[in-house]
Amino acid sequence: MPLPAHPDRLVLRRPDDWHLHLRDGPALAAVLPATAKTFGRAIVMPNLRPPVVTVGAAGAYRARILAALPPGARFEPLMTLYLTDHTAADEIARARASGFVVAAKVYPAGATTNSDSGVTSLDRAEPAIAAIEKHGLVLSLHGEVTDADVDIYDRERVFIDRSLARLVRDHPALRIVVEHITTREAAQFVEAAGANVAATITPQHLLWSRNAMLVGGVRPHLYCLPILKREAHRRALVAAATSGNPKFFLGTDSAPHARHAKEHACGCAGCYSAPLALELYAEAFEDAGALDRLEGFASLHGARFYGLAPHEERVTLVREPWTVPAEYAYGAETIVPLRAGETVRWRLAAG
Ligand code: DOR
Ligand code: ZN
Repeated sequence: MPLPAHPDRLVLRRPDDWHLHLRDGPALAAVLPATAKTFGRAIVMPNLRPPVVTVGAAGAYRARILAALPPGARFEPLMTLYLTDHTAADEIARARASGFVVAAKVYPAGATTNSDSGVTSLDRAEPAIAAIEKHGLVLSLHGEVTDADVDIYDRERVFIDRSLARLVRDHPALRIVVEHITTREAAQFVEAAGANVAATITPQHLLWSRNAMLVGGVRPHLYCLPILKREAHRRALVAAATSGNPKFFLGTDSAPHARHAKEHACGCAGCYSAPLALELYAEAFEDAGALDRLEGFASLHGARFYGLAPHEERVTLVREPWTVPAEYAYGAETIVPLRAGETVRWRLAAG
């Protein structure tokens, strides 16, 4: 039966989060339950301090994540390696053999939080990238240039022109996820590329354009990288996410920072969405008249791209407006989620 335009309940296969920051220590313990409540698996980003550059470090981090899970939680962390200019092809072979590392992440050096050890040019990382292609790992890409003379709003578009197009051309079998796309150009590029190229889209880039962040005052909790763009781009992202095209899938980029680090003269980049991420995506899909496509985006397309089976288990969203807390505990500090103090129209039913 087709779904009514505004149903009261929505049953989906358990979704996965294909791009997530979990941090470490007390921060990890604070944010992990919110993700594990909703998502069955997540691709865990490696930009810790120090970054996760070896399979050994990824295995130790995975063990800390598993140890921090609430009792009874069924959640599988899928680990990533942080690529540097010096990542050896052997490390990629070991990653593949580990079974728990599924992707390697390229941060252009200086692009974002803890990216200082990232790659200074894709050419320098070529041995590792060739090994990723050969061994069938996924290359996860922060797609922005960092050149000082490129405007922050153009950094993704310029990355596509200068680097991504060539990377795709030179590595026809390389599976690439262009993470957290923010522009029409990125959506078009991914759509036009082969089936080996896909993209994740965050809830904030589907719901808000830069006006929401900047008009009437600066809202630091909407500041993330790549930065929110103009409305035409948001619409292009909504069109891509709701198109049913399996190249586009859910990746929250939930990126926790303590309140004081966000509300600061030089605030950190990152939106904290984990406690309400699926609910926010449901709003975006409902506003686009595409709730019937949410399951594909949230629960099927990413698994297919990563070569994993979707979950058999279901989750239920109910139309039950609730007020998002103004903040959550975050170790000894607090953290402000997206939509803090505001109403969200969907709620995940207790499972
Ligand atoms: O806004 C962001 N925050 N973008 C990133 O790429 C990294 C992330 C973080 O780790 O805080
Ligand atoms: Zn991220």
